[in-house]
Amino acid sequence: MSLDTLDHAVLLSIVLALITYVSKGKLWGVTSAPATSTGSRDIAEVLSASGKRCIVFHGSQTGTAEDYASKFAKELQSRFGIPSMTADLEKYDFDSLPALENKLVFFFMATYGEGEPTDNAIEFMEWLNSADDLAAVKFGVFGLGNSTYEFYNAIGRKVQAKIAELNGQFLGPYGEGDDGRGTMDEDFLSWKDAMFASLKDQLDVEEHAMQYQPALEVVELDAADPSTVFLGEPSRKYLDPSQDLSLGPFNHSHPYLAPIASTYELFSLASRSCIHAEFDLSDSNLRYSTGDHLAIWPSNSDAHVSKFLAIFGWEDKRNQVIDIRLLDQTASVPFPTPTTYETVVRHYLGITGPLSRQSLSAIAAFAPTDASKLLAMALGGNKDAFKEKIHDRYMDIADALAYISGGATWEVPFSFVIETTHSLQPRYYSISSSSLSEKRSIHVTAVVEADTPAGSDHLVTGVTTNLLRHIQLTQNQSSQDPHQRYNLSGPRGKLARFKLPVHVRRSTFKLPTNPASPVIMIGPGSGVAPFRGFVRDKVHRKTQNPNEKQGKIMLFYGCRSAEEDFLYKEEWPQYASKLGESFEMITAFSRETTRKVYVQHRIMERAEEIADLLGKGAFIYVCGDASRMARDVHDALAEVLVASKKMTREMAVDMLRNFKIQNRYQEDIW
Ligand SMILES: Cc1cc2nc3c(=O)[nH]c(=O)nc-3n(C[C@H](O)[C@H](O)[C@H](O)COP(=O)(O)OP(=O)(O)OC[C@H]3O[C@@H](n4cnc5c(N)ncnc54)[C@H](O)[C@@H]3O)c2cc1C
Ligand SMILES: NC(=O)c1ccc[n+]([C@@H]2O[C@H](COP(=O)([O-])OP(=O)(O)OC[C@H]3O[C@@H](n4cnc5c(N)ncnc54)[C@H](OP(=O)(O)O)[C@@H]3O)[C@@H](O)[C@H]2O)c1
Ligand SMILES: Cc1cc2nc3c(=O)[nH]c(=O)nc-3n(C[C@H](O)[C@H](O)[C@H](O)COP(=O)(O)O)c2cc1C
Ligand SMILES: *[C@@H]1O[C@H](CO)[C@@H](O)[C@H](O)[C@H]1NC(C)=O
Ligand SMILES: *[C@@H]1O[C@H](CO)[C@@H](O)[C@H](O)[C@H]1NC(C)=O
Ligand SMILES: *[C@@H]1O[C@H](CO)[C@@H](O)[C@H](O)[C@H]1NC(C)=O
Ligand SMILES: *[C@@H]1O[C@H](CO)[C@@H](O)[C@H](O)[C@H]1NC(C)=O
Repeated sequence: MSLDTLDHAVLLSIVLALITYVSKGKLWGVTSAPATSTGSRDIAEVLSASGKRCIVFHGSQTGTAEDYASKFAKELQSRFGIPSMTADLEKYDFDSLPALENKLVFFFMATYGEGEPTDNAIEFMEWLNSADDLAAVKFGVFGLGNSTYEFYNAIGRKVQAKIAELNGQFLGPYGEGDDGRGTMDEDFLSWKDAMFASLKDQLDVEEHAMQYQPALEVVELDAADPSTVFLGEPSRKYLDPSQDLSLGPFNHSHPYLAPIASTYELFSLASRSCIHAEFDLSDSNLRYSTGDHLAIWPSNSDAHVSKFLAIFGWEDKRNQVIDIRLLDQTASVPFPTPTTYETVVRHYLGITGPLSRQSLSAIAAFAPTDASKLLAMALGGNKDAFKEKIHDRYMDIADALAYISGGATWEVPFSFVIETTHSLQPRYYSISSSSLSEKRSIHVTAVVEADTPAGSDHLVTGVTTNLLRHIQLTQNQSSQDPHQRYNLSGPRGKLARFKLPVHVRRSTFKLPTNPASPVIMIGPGSGVAPFRGFVRDKVHRKTQNPNEKQGKIMLFYGCRSAEEDFLYKEEWPQYASKLGESFEMITAFSRETTRKVYVQHRIMERAEEIADLLGKGAFIYVCGDASRMARDVHDALAEVLVASKKMTREMAVDMLRNFKIQNRYQEDIW
């Protein structure tokens, strides 16, 4: 044997040993960003290496599709004994997909924008469009969308149609969930039941009672080097003092810890609050352009963290260092380790918000008494009872568990909580500054979510907006109390002196490239945020280039009253004086008169002029509430066309749809 081949043989045996070692799950001291442990992008390879029969892909932006995909995979595995895994579309190549003959492939697809895929699904959609044959493979598709958007569930439908066109086999009916009607959970449950019924018919599987099979193991460490323990840092980089954290690119896995240079309250009301915050970019290479979105990474409030730890009896273990090991190699730890109980609950998991019926059913097994177990199962199994007792009372998981057990603690494995709770996600804000006039600063305009709605016995609060308010009140040394208090100094003081992790998400919501094109902006409430940026862009250009030809700019703005919640009230006259005749702001105050006046009423009053501007190539922009406002404004614009252009309503709606396709009618709605 030559030395050369010996070398190769030795090397090969080392590699093989390592592979076996890894696949037995012994090499898992630490796992950071979610990724399959095999590291391969080849689906067939990952499925065969892990012995899985089913793969559930998700196209997800804010975690909903991912959440449902994970619940679905767990149930397939536990009820039917079908070894299943979930997978982020972005982490795979699809060349081996058409050859997955004996496997089951599911897609959970959310839709965004004007019927567009989520960021992690873009490449898959491109691949699917050019794929040629899927006849050998068995599929199931569930779409997630919101019927208030025009292109409802466009991606779920596209995936389903494309698979059909390519002769793929379907394991069961196509399903879709609707956030718009608030029925996502029920839509999913009924699709899942139909799918399971069909699976039982088609495959030779036996059904068992659901049982928790941990994919992760939580190990309490007694001696850990404190400098290696994550206390809320987004990733390993943030623990390493030699890393320069001011260098981008900044993204979902690498946020910038941005200093908030200043904050102030925009409303003059005791009962409602809207925060203006300015993030300073001068020490980083973070860039944005007017109309983009800022993603802000929150942490959970002290009260939410305590309530959550208490119901599970983990208060005394707050600072216990833990490591997480994989029992199932296709699972992933959704946060960096080692860490502590409190850190996971405060920084890494989304512990607030409505509880789902399915989650309640799953956790029922761990109820502290027979009576509470029966109650949890009854509520989990009955749509109407769940709605009345849990959902309509705005309970989050800790509230619901405390209500069900009468306050007694629930002994739930921490691994179960990690596996069934979605990760804490950043929230997006339409940037309200101009990248031309504020090159090194990003402004956001955030309405604080804090309300005691009918049916609830407590103040229901939003995570990020109350964090911004806590910062504002502290920064301004206000004597007012925040609704929620947070650990503002952050892990190892990294967020001290008012910093928050952020990154910029590019948007297509942009002014026309030709400044002479007329623009019609419609943005009631917080929907005015990006238009402040647009108008500041226009002012900047005008100052730089006073003779540039400027098209007409109409801004329709609405709020409750001129005195209470008129956002940036004192700024608009200044912009008007700089822009001259080309700029006009039209206001609608909804609570100053007995009859509601909304932006769409003002639009109707100006129908002729708007129709005329549209004839001249005007661009329409709508920003703010997606649930009713955007649709009502759309309908008003259709009316405008009907009234002034002698069209039928169908023709008007068609014309608006064409404007959307040509990007002359853009929406930034949420
Ligand atoms: C592209 C885009 C742009 C956006 N731009 C802006 C903007 O410019 N300005 C702006 O203000 N917002 C904007 N938003 C909305 C913003 O991203 C957040 O959704 C919003 O600020 C609420 O975030 P939060 O973390 O405070 O609330 P969350 O914690 O996300 O809570 C959401 C809602 O659920 C309620 N809630 C909490 N617990 C429960 C419970 N147990 N049961 C039922 N309900 C509960 C909260 O009170 C709140 O109303 C935008 C959204 C998108 C997608
Ligand atoms: N889906 C919803 O339930 C919903 C919708 C919008 C906002 N909100 C909440 O309200 C808070 C403030 O949000 P915000 O500042 O963006 O808006 P906002 O202050 O609620 O609303 C801004 C203005 O828009 C008006 N408006 C209400 N319905 C409208 C419609 N269909 N068409 C046009 N205008 C309409 C409001 O009037 P009136 O309030 O007087 O009717 C108000 O004058 C947030 O907490 C947000 O979550 C909830
Ligand atoms: C900015 C934005 C745009 C959206 N656009 C659409 C759309 O065009 N069509 C649709 O059916 N749903 C749309 N939705 C709804 C989402 O698809 C739905 O909320 C889904 O549950 C999100 O899943 P995810 O959390 O996995 O990203 C949109 C939601 C947001 C926040
Ligand atoms: C979807 O619809 C609901 C209810 O109409 C609305 O409140 C919400 O803002 C919409 N968007 C999302 C992302 O849920
Ligand atoms: C995010 O940015 C980091 C470093 O800035 C980079 O290494 C990583 O590949 C990026 N991730 C994505 C998904 O773009
Ligand atoms: C709040 O603080 C900002 C600086 O961050 C300052 O500009 C503003 O005037 C303060 N407002 C009040 C009411 O103190
Ligand atoms: C905030 O968290 C850090 C650990 O990350 C801790 O040292 C500090 O005491 C906390 N601050 C408060 C006020 O609780």
